[in-house]
Amino acid sequence: MGTGKTALSETVGDAVARQEKIGVTLYPLSLATRGSGKVGEMTKLLSAAFDATLLAAEKLKRSSGKASGGIIFLVDEADAVTQSRESAQMHHEDRAGVNAFIRGVDRLAEKQLPVAVVLCTNRLSAIDPAVQRRAAEIFDFDRPGDKQRRAVIEDPLTELGFNKAQIDQIVKLTGGEKDTVGYTFSDLTQRLLPTLILDAYPDRPVRFERALEIMQAMKATPRFRDGKTT
Ligand SMILES: Nc1ncnc2c1ncn2[C@@H]1O[C@H](COP(=O)(O)OP(=O)(O)O)[C@@H](O)[C@H]1O
Ligand SMILES: [Mg+2]
Repeated sequence: MGTGKTALSETVGDAVARQEKIGVTLYPLSLATRGSGKVGEMTKLLSAAFDATLLAAEKLKRSSGKASGGIIFLVDEADAVTQSRESAQMHHEDRAGVNAFIRGVDRLAEKQLPVAVVLCTNRLSAIDPAVQRRAAEIFDFDRPGDKQRRAVIEDPLTELGFNKAQIDQIVKLTGGEKDTVGYTFSDLTQRLLPTLILDAYPDRPVRFERALEIMQAMKATPRFRDGKTT
């Protein structure tokens, strides 16, 4: 939640492309794939998505050496598609969807195609164990530290006329304390900064004292611990 999973998954291909000097294409699994719930629909759509990816990836493979390009197959909010088949309330149709997903991943792996399958979730424990076992890496996303929060807010606040000491204080206040969590990236970009500006709009300057009041009233997004909000 607002820690940058989607942002990083959607942009990492650019870094890979530059480093490897190849083209990297993002294949985001459409939300529509989760389907309208009609029996068999999700399974069919998932298989079709994997078929399309497989076909495209085969064209990138060369008989010898490095592939001429890569594909990132992105499943955002993946718990909706691959939640554990053991979960009691899981519908039979969803189970078939997870199976189709696993089959798809295995087909890509068997053929050693240049595809990275990326899943994003706020609830790792909801992802089916068989899907988790297939992960080459699992990355945990933390909230931004001081340096990262500063990187996000320094330029806009400077432009609004805040001085260094004021920015230092805002960096500190958005970091949370012993019992409170700090701001997420979205808390900064989608809540704090827009609120400061809307509050001043249309005829007042954005002032530091108002920023302090606004931050006092604005709680960071609560921690999300595998289903439980704490
Ligand atoms: N490394 C970063 N630096 C600056 N802003 C970021 C960074 N990562 C994410 N953001 C911003 O924070 C917001 C939430 O990021 P997002 O990727 O949607 O989070 P998540 O998918 O983990 O919920 C977006 O507005 C995004 O632009
Ligand atoms: Mg996201």
